[in-house]
Amino acid sequence: MTRRANHSLLDRAKTSKRDEFYTLYADIERELRHYEPHFRDKVVFCNCDDPRTSNFFKYFADNFKKLALRKLICACYRKYDPDLFSPSFEHGFYYEYTEGKNLIPEADELITFHGDGDFRSDESTALLRQADIVVTNPPFSLFREYIALLTAHSKKFLLISSINAITYKEVFTLIQANKLWLGVNFGRGISGFIVPEDYELYGTETRIDSLGRKIISPNNCLWLTNLDNFRRHEFIPLTKKYYGHESDYPAYDNYPGINVDRTEDIPMDYAGAVGVPITFLHKFSPEQFEIVGFRKGQDGRDLTIGGKCPYFRILIRRLP
Ligand SMILES: C[S@@+](CC[C@H](N)C(=O)[O-])C[C@H]1O[C@@H](n2cnc3c(N)ncnc32)[C@H](O)[C@@H]1O
Repeated sequence: MTRRANHSLLDRAKTSKRDEFYTLYADIERELRHYEPHFRDKVVFCNCDDPRTSNFFKYFADNFKKLALRKLICACYRKYDPDLFSPSFEHGFYYEYTEGKNLIPEADELITFHGDGDFRSDESTALLRQADIVVTNPPFSLFREYIALLTAHSKKFLLISSINAITYKEVFTLIQANKLWLGVNFGRGISGFIVPEDYELYGTETRIDSLGRKIISPNNCLWLTNLDNFRRHEFIPLTKKYYGHESDYPAYDNYPGINVDRTEDIPMDYAGAVGVPITFLHKFSPEQFEIVGFRKGQDGRDLTIGGKCPYFRILIRRLP
């Protein structure tokens, strides 16, 4: 086998490993309780979820009546990855739950897709069209495509993603346009994910829970949504002043604005642009600030101060 082929196998393995993070029931509950009124009479679709094991499915089936849901659809992908030794094709499948049906589906209640159940497939997007709200933790490696599909179909959604996703141009553009924002829980607010037994650990926090499952707590995940939540309407208390403390607020070389390293240092008396760390978005209210840019100065290059780049910065301006 050539070195090139070896690499592509390794990359594929890494990518699929990165996608095998299963969400804990407690984390779903902790976020979903902030959105209950949104779900009344709605069709919910979990399109990256095995209805026999997914905690997203379990949460919505358990709370079907309380949320007054109309229908719950849960679709499972079966990777089509034939090789010389196992060329067989595995079909994806889905389950449509309404009140009174089995909480754990019997085999004959699962409807088999003709294809693998990829969220981008015609079969899965036909189910997406029926749905009002999509709620899941999708594969991180396909996040750009995932969000593009949901926005192309004008769907409401609540998703787990990695913090990195905020820095994707496609995602940030939606955040800036107020078409997408952060959920309530962030970082440690998502306690962990169940990973496969053979998952190798790379220095991140891990534990075995009381059910014997391997749990990893990466501390770099968040919820992204276009469902309104209380955070969007809470103002950040501003206590610092720019005037009289100008030396605490260095100006950018290539943008008319000042830098802060911590959200709580945003000055209350500065009307121009302020560069803030991306964690600002967790406290962002569009009633208090507008987002005017990301990362780049007026010359199209990364923002610099005295020739050096601070970390990624979001440029914001306080609303009058
Ligand atoms: C991060 S895991 C989360 C699983 C589940 N949603 C949960 O939260 O427990 C992402 C899941 O998406 C599945 N997946 C990967 N590629 C997919 C695709 N193209 N279409 C649909 N599902 C996919 C993976 O098999 C994996 O089970």
